[in-house]
Amino acid sequence: MTPFKKTLLTSLAIVAITPPLALAEEAQQVTFKSVMQGLLTDTQQITKGIVLEDFALIQQAAEKIVDHPKPDLAVRMKLVKAMGSAMGKFKAKDTVVHNSAVKLVEAAKAKDMLAISKEYQVLVNGCLACHSSFKEKVANILK
Ligand code: HEC
Repeated sequence: MTPFKKTLLTSLAIVAITPPLALAEEAQQVTFKSVMQGLLTDTQQITKGIVLEDFALIQQAAEKIVDHPKPDLAVRMKLVKAMGSAMGKFKAKDTVVHNSAVKLVEAAKAKDMLAISKEYQVLVNGCLACHSSFKEKVANILK
């Protein structure tokens, strides 16, 4: 193949795999709901890991919860503004889930199923506690 043809093919390949700008921007949008859907997927993976005694899966999924993406800055700004003084309580609920995910990672590394199942309860109760206090309020702010 001549160098020219090679370059041409490479350029074509790059064009083919580069999404249009609009699509790329859309893919970067992180909504509050998309973060939550990610948390649900991760929690489901932890459940699967517990049932199958797959410690690597539990660790991996709990790490994802620890490092879950933040909603876009605009979303967070809107939330902070509308929540006002309730933001502290909201953050505290988030911290419960975060800390329990950190402990789940440790328990999975230690292959300690008893600690895992205990912490799993804390995690899921943490999801429910925030939902019962804030889900409706925040959904109304962000809709
Ligand atoms: C700090 C508060 C908070 C915590 C902790 C929290 N959530 Fe949520 N969650 C919310 C709020 C608020 C909504 C509603 C968002 C909206 O409607 O825009 C929500 C909505 C959801 C939804 C519905 C998303 C949709 O598409 O409508 C799922 C699923 C969900 N959460 C899963 C979880 C799981 C799983 C956990 C625990 C691992 C969790 N959440 C922990 C606040 C929280």
